[in-house]
Amino acid sequence: MKTLFREAVPEDEPVAHDAFHRLSEETRHNRFMAAVNEIPEDILDSLRRPEPERALFLACFRLDDAGREAEPVGAARLVHAGDGTSGDFGIVLADAWQRRGIGARMVRLLIDNARARGLAKLRGHVLATNDGMLGLARFLGFEVADSAEEGSRVKVVTKTLSAP
Ligand SMILES: CC(C)(COP(=O)(O)OP(=O)(O)OC[C@H]1O[C@@H](n2cnc3c(N)ncnc32)[C@H](O)[C@@H]1OP(=O)(O)O)[C@@H](O)C(=O)NCCC(=O)NCCS
Repeated sequence: MKTLFREAVPEDEPVAHDAFHRLSEETRHNRFMAAVNEIPEDILDSLRRPEPERALFLACFRLDDAGREAEPVGAARLVHAGDGTSGDFGIVLADAWQRRGIGARMVRLLIDNARARGLAKLRGHVLATNDGMLGLARFLGFEVADSAEEGSRVKVVTKTLSAP
């Protein structure tokens, strides 16, 4: 089984909508920390108007035997935070593709990219009940702490990045 990781482009929007609507309720809730029925506007904006200076939108596809993109597997996004030194990330994998090592590969790509951008930290907001993301964060050496704004409902996972 071959997978391809590449930057998302505006032409991916129809595939993104399709993939979103196939996500389970639990996966959507874990990704967006709320019950959402459509891709949130800020994410659509990132897809429609890439801003390479302040964001990376990564997509993963399964390739068929001919090397064509056959199935969307996951998406991950890194956005520069307002403090100028951190990046915030979010990630989602199609339900059937979870727990197969792809999330770890995508977050490692975000870490490498954040480091190359000179960011000092990569940070994610994760529901305290989201064992999958908290497990992945710990697996990749992120620190896990309560969120100052959202109390014990949300955890902040932070990876301090060394220079490239
Ligand atoms: C969270 C998510 C991105 C993890 O990606 P994934 O591809 O499923 O995770 P991986 O297979 O790469 O896991 C790597 C390691 O992380 C840890 N991990 C992953 N899922 C876990 C789980 N459910 N419970 C505990 N640890 C887990 C394990 O240490 C795992 O290694 P192992 O499988 O050898 O034990 C994915 O499950 C997902 O899309 N979930 C729904 C959306 C979401 O929660 N997004 C995060 C909000 S920012």
